[in-house]
Amino acid sequence: MPANAELLEIALTIAHRAADLARQRRDEGVEVAASKSSLSDIVTRADREAEDLIRDAIAAARPDDGFYGEESGGAEGTSGLTWVVDPIDGTVNYFYGIPAYAVSVAVVEGDPDPRTWRALAGAVVNPAIGETFTASAGGGAELNGKALQVKQGTDLALALVGTGFGYDAERRVQQATILADLIGKVRDIRRIGAASLDLCSVAAGRLDAYYERGLNPWDHAAGALIAREAGAQVGALAGTRESADLLIAAEPGLYAQLEPLLRPHFSVAG
Ligand code: IPD
Repeated sequence: MPANAELLEIALTIAHRAADLARQRRDEGVEVAASKSSLSDIVTRADREAEDLIRDAIAAARPDDGFYGEESGGAEGTSGLTWVVDPIDGTVNYFYGIPAYAVSVAVVEGDPDPRTWRALAGAVVNPAIGETFTASAGGGAELNGKALQVKQGTDLALALVGTGFGYDAERRVQQATILADLIGKVRDIRRIGAASLDLCSVAAGRLDAYYERGLNPWDHAAGALIAREAGAQVGALAGTRESADLLIAAEPGLYAQLEPLLRPHFSVAG
């Protein structure tokens, strides 16, 4: 098995290439290529092009590894490692020209299931503002080469909490109900629009906490590792791992205050 630092180098190089492509296509003008789960769940030509670039580069560098990407689905490998990729996280921001979108590339060991995988390395690159977040398991997290550490000792009442909404209308209404319960108990809420950047924001102390229901594995594979390596607790309810049911990320003391507030809104079984 290659060292985590070696895997991180591959993730970083490939994420940067895809991020350069995404930024270039953004400058040229973005068009919606198709919609997916709902009319608001869009895919641009750049999403597909960036994923093809990443998939080909990974196949060249690590031909025995598996691949699991937002736009082109999965392919099993034989090495036990899988690359979990969101070519453009924050697609709606990308479409509107809001500079909060990112290429997210992670490599995990085990089945491509966040309940059981072990994330080894990850890179999240926001080319619109030139920020690169990285982490490797046991190697810490960095922003543009500078070590990251979550903010400690924040009281829930003073916490800036990020969240997001899915594309399904019914799910969004449910998510708004949770938000209505929470907003009076925290400093304020942010909806940045890219889950990978929300998690990196927790790592960088720009958000105190983040939670969301309904994330796909590629939305959080790299960001969750980055948040963990910066000292955040990442998981769901009652000690369970993060999944499509729920992801919570915060410094452990704040996690312990936020989790009981979210608990009545979610069942552990999802
Ligand atoms: C979405 C973003 C958004 C989150 C959604 C995700 P996409 O990913 O990360 O912030 O709230 O749940 O689906 O569609 O832009 O890759």
